[in-house]
Amino acid sequence: MSADPQCQAPLLETVMTTTGTDGVVNCAAMGVRWGEREVAFWPFHGTRTLRNLRAHGEAVVHLTDDVLLFVQSALGRPQPAVRAATEISGSVIEQASHWRELVVSEITPAGARALVRAKVVASGTGAAEPAGLCRARHAVVEASILASRVRVLGAEHVRAELERLQPLVDKTAGPREREAMAYVREYLADHD
Ligand SMILES: Cc1cc2nc3c(=O)[nH]c(=O)nc-3n(C[C@H](O)[C@H](O)[C@H](O)COP(=O)(O)O)c2cc1C
Repeated sequence: MSADPQCQAPLLETVMTTTGTDGVVNCAAMGVRWGEREVAFWPFHGTRTLRNLRAHGEAVVHLTDDVLLFVQSALGRPQPAVRAATEISGSVIEQASHWRELVVSEITPAGARALVRAKVVASGTGAAEPAGLCRARHAVVEASILASRVRVLGAEHVRAELERLQPLVDKTAGPREREAMAYVREYLADHD
């Protein structure tokens, strides 16, 4: 990737694993500029991900179609099956279709977030076939982003947006997407 990762590779929604000083593996949904040799991402200050990266500058970013894992990584503390990464001391999520192992090269404050640049030191692909585009999956991902920002956006706004997204789930979801949307709604009921 060139010197300006913000304007180059597309921003893909990933699940990122990092490891805490206590050895606990953390999963977080994270938008990442997905370059082949370098990636960039913007964790908010206060996230466990940023704390872990400052203490131990390694991570694994994963692509997955599993929206329930996405939603849980944004709003909860999932513990998917993992195995050891090959080039770093990190964890690869078993069900991921693609992953990249990262070593952080730079963490720069950037307003409410930090800009993290990292080198890709290993990558891999899983056995799972791409699941294809699905409107319900995209709707659930949008819903979970909104829910993860409910304190900033306000519960009323987030609930109105969910009403707009729900028909896409009703029309096009399978069981996994329905379960993921229900997870978002339960989270909102507990946090508004
Ligand atoms: C699709 C998606 C993308 C997200 N992208 C980011 C991001 O770029 N930066 C960030 O800090 N949080 C992002 N979030 C929210 C985090 O996943 C959420 O705040 C999570 O709780 C942070 O986890 P942590 O405290 O365990 O690190 C995103 C959520 C979703 C659903």
